Amino acid sequence: MAGQPDGRSVHHGFPHLAAGPGDLVPDRLCDRECVSGTSPARRREPRLAAGRARALGLATRGTTGPNRLRRVDRWIVGTQAARLRAAPSPLVVDLGYGSSPVTTVELYERLSRVRPDVRVVGLEIDRERVAAAAARPPGLAFARGGFELAGLRPVFVRAMNVLRQYEEAAVGPAWAAMLDRIVAGGLLIEGTCDEIGRRACWFAVDRPPGTSERLEGSERLGMSERLEGTGRLGTSGRPETTQPEPRSCTLTLAAHLPSLARPSELAERLPKSLISRNVPGEDVHTLLSAFDDAWSRTAPQAVFGPRQRWVAAVESLRADGWPVQGTRPRWRLGEVTFAWPPVRVDTDATATGG
Ligand SMILES: C[S@@+](CC[C@H](N)C(=O)[O-])C[C@H]1O[C@@H](n2cnc3c(N)ncnc32)[C@H](O)[C@@H]1O
Repeated sequence: MAGQPDGRSVHHGFPHLAAGPGDLVPDRLCDRECVSGTSPARRREPRLAAGRARALGLATRGTTGPNRLRRVDRWIVGTQAARLRAAPSPLVVDLGYGSSPVTTVELYERLSRVRPDVRVVGLEIDRERVAAAAARPPGLAFARGGFELAGLRPVFVRAMNVLRQYEEAAVGPAWAAMLDRIVAGGLLIEGTCDEIGRRACWFAVDRPPGTSERLEGSERLGMSERLEGTGRLGTSGRPETTQPEPRSCTLTLAAHLPSLARPSELAERLPKSLISRNVPGEDVHTLLSAFDDAWSRTAPQAVFGPRQRWVAAVESLRADGWPVQGTRPRWRLGEVTFAWPPVRVDTDATATGG
């Protein structure tokens, strides 16, 4: 789908993107508080409690680049393909694609190998960036939208390096808005990485199967009603949302290992809700400290290369009761996923039956 010079978009095989009453008409979705190319001084507080006819959020710096999100895409393809295959409607949203749509195109290419009929919509709140994006394959489109996802109902939302430039208080409402739109069985992937994608950290929070009916009911509420009281961050920096159903949440850390001196260097790229929590007494700090300790203990493995050392450190963390997920093939990629919050099992008590 090509954006039009006036910021409007035309749909290419995405009927739900066609302009209809209250539907995706970029002008109507515009949050008038949005500014493009914002310097910090010009930024305004994001409007996260606007009505559905507005794009929720705030235009921020558009930094991006080819292959920047390869680690998160590799994780999606490697661990979440079953969700995409099972989705009745394989719609994926890449929220906040930046000054170039290149990472959205890459996401489409990677996911279409898993599910050839996947449709990927790149949503951007910055009008000019939408106008500049030109879609090529029929399964790819670009449109204007914010945390309300422009009314779409995707199975995945990838929102990388979007919330990093917001206030921490904006994270909970933004999550709530996005999770409200994701279909049952779907997943929100939200995190941060460095400029060239060598270090990345992201949350993945799911919408459990069987929650659709309650969702449909919540859609009758206005956005501000649905977001009411959801600005808080829960324990461990995991944002609280209005939905009462149990959700599984994970935190994944991924790095280019040859350039990583120690695991805690990843702290610079933690998702927004964890950045200020990397202080003694907080879960993320305790976990990263334990990871560094494991890294030190496994220093002899360095002679076999950084992958071996990373795998050994992850195995050591798991042996110590940290909720490590996955298996060696994933860890060998310089990746590790933890259940979040990272509730540690007392392995001594388990071993002794206590
Ligand atoms: C730093 S760029 C990230 C680009 C790309 N996702 C990446 O990781 O390389 C952040 C982009 O998110 C956009 N953005 C910020 N808030 C948004 C929102 N609520 N909805 C849609 N886009 C948003 C900004 O305008 C900016 O273009």
